Amino acid sequence: MRKKIVAGNWKMNMTLDEGQKLTSEIVNMYKDEALEGVIAVLNPPFPHIFPVKKLIGSIPGIAVGAQNCSDKEAGAYTGEVSAKILASFGVQYVILGHSERREYFKETNELLSEKVKQALANGLIPIFCCGESLEIRTAGTHESNVKFQLTQSLFDLSPEDFSKVVIAYEPIWAIGTGKTATADQAQEMHAALRRHIATKYGKEIANETSILYGGSANPGNAKELFSKPDVDGGLIGGASIKSRDFLDIIKSF
Ligand code: PGA
Repeated sequence: MRKKIVAGNWKMNMTLDEGQKLTSEIVNMYKDEALEGVIAVLNPPFPHIFPVKKLIGSIPGIAVGAQNCSDKEAGAYTGEVSAKILASFGVQYVILGHSERREYFKETNELLSEKVKQALANGLIPIFCCGESLEIRTAGTHESNVKFQLTQSLFDLSPEDFSKVVIAYEPIWAIGTGKTATADQAQEMHAALRRHIATKYGKEIANETSILYGGSANPGNAKELFSKPDVDGGLIGGASIKSRDFLDIIKSF
């Protein structure tokens, strides 16, 4: 059985007080509503990681993730945060290759390959994002575009390492736009990605790989998205910084 995961990407939002309030609400609701079957991952901005981790404590099923890590191991890289540092703070997941990082910070498939390796070498689970622009979707080359992102950044991993990676399919035209991919569009792409993984790593590993959907997912559409056989959860932006919405998405399984 592959893992069901709902990861919240806070992006560059929330002050200390807001983050503490949000985390406490999520933790309390998660406990009260007994949601243990789904892993919830909170991915706040870096300074929140330590206090968020403290608030979560050792509740099974809730984890802390980062939104990025360095491609370098350690040393004179001002402003960067390594996977090793994150791991030492109890971080378990790291979002890599988000389209905002690809676009605004010029992260390439090659650079992401290095980041994925750093994450894995330090015991972090990469949530590797892929997804096409509206232009590519309109041209009809979305499937090959997204497969290429996986091939370039992940397919030199050993089967053992690859099997630790979580994939997030996030069509860029759906991120923060309120224009969600339909459940059928998500299913089609997730199935294509799973087939692509199978060609490289075999059916068994492909079937065990969690593939999340991201892009304007909310409590109103999560149920339909999660009902699709190849959709194993969500990477949630806007709705993850509202505790009730985030919990309702988790409950949509
Ligand atoms: P959104 O963001 O849910 O606000 O569309 C998703 C993401 O960027 O991961």
